[in-house]
Amino acid sequence: MKKGIIILGSSKSFGETRKLADYVANETQFPLIDLKKKNIGEFDYEHKNKDDDYIPLMKDIVENYELIVFATPVYWYNMSARLKIFFDRFSDLLHAEKEIGRKLRGMEMAVISCASERNTKEGFHMSFKESAKYLGMNYVGDVHGWVEDKALSNDVQKSLDEFCKALN
Ligand SMILES: Cc1cc2nc3c(=O)[nH]c(=O)nc-3n(C[C@H](O)[C@H](O)[C@H](O)COP(=O)(O)O)c2cc1C
Repeated sequence: MKKGIIILGSSKSFGETRKLADYVANETQFPLIDLKKKNIGEFDYEHKNKDDDYIPLMKDIVENYELIVFATPVYWYNMSARLKIFFDRFSDLLHAEKEIGRKLRGMEMAVISCASERNTKEGFHMSFKESAKYLGMNYVGDVHGWVEDKALSNDVQKSLDEFCKALN
């Protein structure tokens, strides 16, 4: 199993996306970072928030992991705003923190999404795939799920099992 880390971008630390992310964390033993617990500001052209939690987190990730698994709820057909802010901050790594950016090359990216609907709309994964390509990362897969009666159905668990197996 590769050394992976799960980045959770939900507005609820222990909401529905967390159930899917915890399932994957349990299967893979990947640690989980809850972005809600981090102080990460939106992208700033003058890098005014360079001392927030983003750079230390990314430094730890590129130095210690081979795979980033993003876990996001679908909010208005898209990734969550919290995760989008994290993605915008990749721009810090293109200029001010190039060394960290370079180390993303060759790393892997995967995505867990959670919504009310049983499927994501066409194009949902485009920004993940294109961002991975731009950063020189390999996009290795995604899984979509939902929560019914506060639990994961057998079908969702089966998809998550297959997803975890494919991360090997
Ligand atoms: C702001 C907001 C927008 C949402 N937009 C969608 C959507 O576009 N499609 C969908 O299927 N579900 C949508 N939902 C439902 C959530 O994706 C779903 O309840 C998900 O399981 C929530 O995960 P969470 O508990 O981690 O926030 C939305 C929920 C919220 C709060």
